[in-house]
Amino acid sequence: MKQAHSPVIIATWRFGKEAVEHAGELLRNGHSVLDAVEKGINVVELEPAEKSVGFGGRPNADGVVELDAAIMHGPTHDAGAVAGLRHIKRPISVARLVMEKTPHAMLVGDGALQFAIQQGFQQEHLLTDESRDQWKTWLENRQSADDSHDTIGLAALDTQGDLAAGCSTSGIGYKLPGRVGDSPLVGSGLYVDNDVGAASATGLGEEILKFCSSFLVVELMRQGLSPQEACEQTIRRILAKKPQNKDIQIGLIALSHTGKTGAAACRPGFQYAVWREDHAELSDAVIVASIQQPQ
Ligand code: GLY
Repeated sequence: MKQAHSPVIIATWRFGKEAVEHAGELLRNGHSVLDAVEKGINVVELEPAEKSVGFGGRPNADGVVELDAAIMHGPTHDAGAVAGLRHIKRPISVARLVMEKTPHAMLVGDGALQFAIQQGFQQEHLLTDESRDQWKTWLENRQSADDSHDTIGLAALDTQGDLAAGCSTSGIGYKLPGRVGDSPLVGSGLYVDNDVGAASATGLGEEILKFCSSFLVVELMRQGLSPQEACEQTIRRILAKKPQNKDIQIGLIALSHTGKTGAAACRPGFQYAVWREDHAELSDAVIVASIQQPQ
């Protein structure tokens, strides 16, 4: 029999604060942990000012926005994901339906779009005037003034002690069409074990996925490390194996099944938001510059 818990929510980046506030309100009003994760992430997906997620996200090299998202439910250990999804503003909601309505765990490209349309999603233009102008500027010199690609990752613990997590991104701006990063991959962009904890990743997906980073964070927590220690140890592992990764950004967040949180990154600048007791707060993640071999 599980004990009653104080709900806790953690999310990546500054935009995570609005996401955890909305998710927290849903948990407070009795919604499920999956609703909290999905709708919290929707807040960022639907905000055109955010250039790396959903509507207004940076397009690929052809000027087409291709979105990746995944969601994972602790109690059932089920997951759903979409990759390379075009024309749909809320990919995390499609990912949830992949989990709930199909026997599959991931749909990609045209198949994901056809599924979304069948489920009642509208096809919409995802480029904003600003993101189109920035793409045209990129086309001229193949260089971007701002190449950040900041995934929204969010993990929640509800009052029953159940966990869920999700993440959503437009990936690297001006990527090759068809490029997929870590975000829709269970174990890389996110992972949940309801008896241990949840984790999510942000940053350069090509490197995050080579280390199964979110799975590693949760497995280190299973071995007894705190969420903070597990995030730091995972970054240390990434830097020990590939020291050149000190020049790219990878950020990790973690939430234990008891409500403890942690976050770490390779480089400065990674903020994360935590919501507990009806209050959301932004913090700077611990920077792990050490490239010592992990234990
Ligand atoms: N972390 C998001 C991506 O690289 O696509």
